[in-house]
Amino acid sequence: MEREKIIVIDFGGQYNQLVARRVRECNVYCEIYSYKTDLDKIKQMNPSGIILTGGPSSCYEEGAAKCSPKLFEIGVPILGLCYGAQLMTHVLGGKVERAKDREYGKTEITLDASSALFGGKNAQGVKNAGEIKQMQTDTLCWMSHFDYISQLAPGFRSVAHTSSTPVAAMEDVSRGLYGIQFHPEVLHTPEGSKMLYNFVRGICGCAGDWRMDTFVEDSIKAIRDKVGNGKVLLALSGGVDSSVAAGLLSRAIGQHLTCVFVDHGLLRKNEGDEVEAVFGKGGQFDLNFIRVNAQERYYSKLAGVTEPERKRKIIGEEFIRVFEEEAKKIGAVDFLAQGTIYPDVVESGLGGESAVIKSHHNVGGLPDFVDFKEIIEPLRDLFKDEVRKAGLELGLPEALVFRQPFPGPGLGIRIIGEVTGEKVKIVQDADAIYREEVGKAAAEWKSAHGENPDWMPDQYFAALTNMRSVGVMGDERTYDYAIALRAVKTVDFMTAEAAQLPWDVLQRTMNRIVNEVRGVNRVLYDVSSKPPGTVEFE
Ligand code: XMP
Repeated sequence: MEREKIIVIDFGGQYNQLVARRVRECNVYCEIYSYKTDLDKIKQMNPSGIILTGGPSSCYEEGAAKCSPKLFEIGVPILGLCYGAQLMTHVLGGKVERAKDREYGKTEITLDASSALFGGKNAQGVKNAGEIKQMQTDTLCWMSHFDYISQLAPGFRSVAHTSSTPVAAMEDVSRGLYGIQFHPEVLHTPEGSKMLYNFVRGICGCAGDWRMDTFVEDSIKAIRDKVGNGKVLLALSGGVDSSVAAGLLSRAIGQHLTCVFVDHGLLRKNEGDEVEAVFGKGGQFDLNFIRVNAQERYYSKLAGVTEPERKRKIIGEEFIRVFEEEAKKIGAVDFLAQGTIYPDVVESGLGGESAVIKSHHNVGGLPDFVDFKEIIEPLRDLFKDEVRKAGLELGLPEALVFRQPFPGPGLGIRIIGEVTGEKVKIVQDADAIYREEVGKAAAEWKSAHGENPDWMPDQYFAALTNMRSVGVMGDERTYDYAIALRAVKTVDFMTAEAAQLPWDVLQRTMNRIVNEVRGVNRVLYDVSSKPPGTVEFE
């Protein structure tokens, strides 16, 4: 059966993945495609509706991202957002001009409640009136535009305005065309998710059958059909993606799956054992689990190496060597599984228009030496939050499912300068204390207030600086290392701010680290933002 879907056409704006995620939150599956995608291909995908995203340019300029007027004749509802709305107007005979001033930030807006976008159940063109949600008509929205729609295209009417923008939303219900000048996908537009819901569930009439329990069930069937009696090999890092992929594959094909888990000695405290407890013998999954304890091998390769890029390279190359040796022992396999997720697909240029091209450091190069016939990527269609939900459906422990991002080179890039077993132990112990204290304070806050505190970081960890300094311990002079604590708030990890952790949490962490971790006499808090700093230290 064909999966019901919305197509998000990407014009290169910054919120494009966010638009797709919001649609998925309405339990509607969607995919992102570049605006350059052939119109016939889009038609063949038989979408229930189309969303045109924002973009960085002016639609009337030479070389701007364009679309064919024929797009608007496909016969399914289309919603243009920001640039998408302007382009729709421009292409269909209206006028878009540069405003005197940029309209930016949270803006008061008045919505016309008779529009189906904003709650008009009786509006023409609505496929499922029961799904239309009513909203506040005097509300806020997030604006970010220089150009504005100065004249509507024929057939359209304005259904929202702000003090400076006469067309903050528009519609031509007879053709099923809608436009919104602001950004309903961002949280600063409080009624925004309802608007997208009204579009995909009410106007397009999507049934909302995209749910993670059915995804897991359907994937298990699809994997069984595809793999049959074949053998599958997966490099399990213990991160969220590869763990969920392992859980899903194991449920589908059990012993036909072999997971190789390389413990490079640069994992967080007890992490290797935690991964083994879930996937190893006696754990909750049925599979072949191979743990390679390669700590010493890594430490000897890293001895004396201080240059960050060289360290990263050694760790990456050594991973390939170790994996290669294991793969040779296993022999030919039918499938090599990878934990690729949807943002990886989009960011590597296969989906939308995103400028960021990310290489997949942790798995890069593997296919060259593993003897396999095909790649299998069971999470390829999922966003990170969906991967987590699928993980919970599979019964993976919450600690694993909600794990913080952890770099492939591990603690190797959180130890400045040379990596040694002794330094790894120091940073592991300090980091475990830090995570415990932050976790405890956050949990207390959550149980009292029902939500995470404002200061809750998106990633936090301890790093070992290469600096030793003089201190006192009792009557003794010490000459020990300084630990740096990092905690950042970020949306996409491309930019980040230091999180404002409560002072008492920092104090408790410092006290415990200097008392419990030998070799540390100083604890520093890193307040740098990114840029110019990075999240990691090397
Ligand atoms: P940076 O340090 O680049 O980190 O600001 C941004 C995010 O990426 C993670 N990171 C990595 N992840 N392999 C990974 O899988 C790597 O080599 C790597 N380097 C950084 C980092 O933890 C943060 O979440």
